[in-house]
Amino acid sequence: MLSGCAGFGGIKLDSVGKPDTVTYLKVALNQTTEHPSYKALEFFGKEFSKATGGRYQIEIFPNEQLGSQQEVLQMVKSGAIEMAIVSGTQLENVNKDFQVLDMPTTFTSIDQQIAVLKDREIVGKLFESLEKRDNITVLGGYTQGSRNVYTTDRVIKTPADLKGLKIRVQESDMHIRMIELMGGSATPLSYGEVYSALQAGVLDGAENNAVSYNTAKHMEVANHYAYTNHLIGLDYMILRADLFRAVPEKDRNLLIEKWNDSMDFHTKLWIDYTKESEEIAKEHGAEFNEVDSEAFFNALQPIKDQFVVTPYQKELYAKIRAVADELEAGTKAATETTQS
Ligand code: GCU
Repeated sequence: MLSGCAGFGGIKLDSVGKPDTVTYLKVALNQTTEHPSYKALEFFGKEFSKATGGRYQIEIFPNEQLGSQQEVLQMVKSGAIEMAIVSGTQLENVNKDFQVLDMPTTFTSIDQQIAVLKDREIVGKLFESLEKRDNITVLGGYTQGSRNVYTTDRVIKTPADLKGLKIRVQESDMHIRMIELMGGSATPLSYGEVYSALQAGVLDGAENNAVSYNTAKHMEVANHYAYTNHLIGLDYMILRADLFRAVPEKDRNLLIEKWNDSMDFHTKLWIDYTKESEEIAKEHGAEFNEVDSEAFFNALQPIKDQFVVTPYQKELYAKIRAVADELEAGTKAATETTQS
């Protein structure tokens, strides 16, 4: 029986001291409780619990309470916790094929990214690729939206402006290369260490979406935010594969259904909270500026030849771009119709 199994989140005692039949699933998150990912996880937990008559409870641990993303990924692997939200960069370090989805130039909009995420024909094999060796199933993901560069002193408008600046990146070879191609000097560091490194002057800048710029308070210590728009980033929901297999099929299907609903919920929140975050940052004195987008876009072109190399990666990239191109063409046609 699942809830009686050691390691499946444990059993809690009810008011008369008998074990209840609730299965508790711990999920680790490195964001604050204002962040859309926290809100979407809350929604997921409530909906899944309701749909299963309270037999499952999702317990969210925000603010890196359980550790950095690198650490919580290991905890999911070992079975210490059941689930975690981790950035695409973390999965790249387990299987390089994930780089294709987390590469600058792969997506140019959130819509394209979400459409691909939901297309099991494209991502199914990739999402199951970690099950046997790493005991990780990928359920899906939440967008990180558009990532941009922000700096402590210098205003960035062109790749030349980044010369000599130490810019924090996530722990990923591809992201190190990304900042180098954009003109800067890359420093990999875990998310929770960025604020103090910016404050201490160890870093000259970082790159992230406006939401994290606000919720992680980086806006307090780096107030020039340049719309380099170099990447539509992606977070994944990872889950213990042994747990996923052990859950009765009916509950597993409900888990997938409610997770998918939470992805839609997250995307809606994301758009509004990005705007709100920019306003909050401006109130704190942050300044946002446009850049020479073409120069940054061109600078990033070589990344594809370096990181999309195996036949599988090329096939995956081609399938993704086919979906993305179709959506891009649809958006373009719709814009032209409105303008004519
Ligand atoms: C975003 C993303 C996180 C990631 C962070 C980072 O906030 O949602 O998953 O850890 O960027 O830059 O490290």
